[in-house]
Amino acid sequence: MPRPIIIDTDPGTDDAVAILLAVAAPELDVLGLAAVAGNAPLQFTERNARAVVELAGRPEIPVYAGCPRPIFGSHIAAEHAHGGSGLGSLELPPPQIPLRPQHGVDFLIEMLRAAKPRSVTICALGPLTNIATALIKAPEIAGLMAGLVVMGGASYALGNMTPAAEFNMHADPFAAAVVFDSGAPITMIPLDLTHQVLSTPERIARVRALGNRCGHAAALLLEPPRATRRGHGKRPTYALHDPCVIAYLLAPELLEGVEANVAIEIQSPLTLGMTVIDWRGISGRRPNARVMTKIDAGRFYALLTERLADLP
Ligand code: RIB
Ligand code: CA
Repeated sequence: MPRPIIIDTDPGTDDAVAILLAVAAPELDVLGLAAVAGNAPLQFTERNARAVVELAGRPEIPVYAGCPRPIFGSHIAAEHAHGGSGLGSLELPPPQIPLRPQHGVDFLIEMLRAAKPRSVTICALGPLTNIATALIKAPEIAGLMAGLVVMGGASYALGNMTPAAEFNMHADPFAAAVVFDSGAPITMIPLDLTHQVLSTPERIARVRALGNRCGHAAALLLEPPRATRRGHGKRPTYALHDPCVIAYLLAPELLEGVEANVAIEIQSPLTLGMTVIDWRGISGRRPNARVMTKIDAGRFYALLTERLADLP
């Protein structure tokens, strides 16, 4: 029986690869996508989400628009990493499938309320605005999720948006605080893990060599749209973040993690959105997430490449 999932997302080049991986997987039943403002403004992220499911030949997957800005403050984009359109150098035709009229937050709530309790897994690939808003509107949904797999945060890896904070957490720190305080069954996939997943030229070439349109698109999405802020080793390569969430669902044996308390900085302008992970349990705060720390990157890319081959 395929695992039902909802993807909350801000495509976003790596989000787009994660969506392709998810819709290619027979083990997963993608109930829908809820777009959120993040890497690009909401009008771009929702359009990109529709364009990617169309590219994958899955126009029946519904796409909803969620929140256009964080709970407090204004929208922060990540144009340096995803380009103005949000999809880097990949140009997709305007999507033909319509945006669903229901708000993405209400879609999340109603799907969780209608489904068998603890059957649907939420994959959070962007700022947590939609998830937090849903939890504020309907707190009981924290107990209705089979899991909430969050790409975001950092510890030893430090920040990628500020020296202290990872983008998804920094873009809406108050939403992150609501989510990590909600009691939802969180699995966190931080930069500490995703920085082990580097899209080297060799790995990109294997994806491009698939010869299908989704392989060609994924190869473009895996390329940094421009030189990244810091290279990983001699030649700048591009850490791949969001697809690790889907890989965790498909092949959890590729990842390792520990239970820990994660707290979000919401007061200091210097460290706003920092995830303070209590690895040693010295705070006295109860563990509220399984924090994934290691991944077998070679087997991850083999899985990604193998599954992309099954798409058009
Ligand atoms: O810091 C990486 C995260 O921020 C990824 O989800 C990427 O898509 C951006 O949203
Ligand atoms: Ca994202």
